[in-house]
Amino acid sequence: MAHAHLLKQIETVLKASSDQEKGLHFICQLLHDNLDNFDWVGYYLHSHNKKELVLKTYVGDPTDHTHIPFGKGICGQVALSNESFIVDDVTTQDNYISCSINVKSEIVVPLFINGQNKGQIDIDSNKAKAFTDQDADFLTKVNRLVALYLF
Ligand code: SME
Repeated sequence: MAHAHLLKQIETVLKASSDQEKGLHFICQLLHDNLDNFDWVGYYLHSHNKKELVLKTYVGDPTDHTHIPFGKGICGQVALSNESFIVDDVTTQDNYISCSINVKSEIVVPLFINGQNKGQIDIDSNKAKAFTDQDADFLTKVNRLVALYLF
């Protein structure tokens, strides 16, 4: 399904309900079900007190990594860099937390609330080089809708 169509669907659903957990889960399910190679889709939010990421909701295989310290792994690096991170081949990364041996590539896009990095969407793929700059742009737009309607 085209990115524009998915954005429309997300906006319609988020506009109708501001339930944060349901809204985030809806997005994970929609992207997982409609985009090729989006094999695991989850949202982590920042716990600033503990300087860690907390997994709020996801679709895909269960993961042990429900709490990730800032700076650790691809996710933890994005918590500090405030920038999207695309990894074409996870085996090339020293600072990487493996959730499953099947994962080959990953994209993490920060979620900004009033200009502050408050979380991220994280997507794993079982295919190498699954993600492009277009995916990063699309996920940035998804996160703008999240900021607008769920926070
Ligand atoms: N691979 C991530 C950990 C989260 S899992 O992919 C669900 C990382 O290196 O931060």
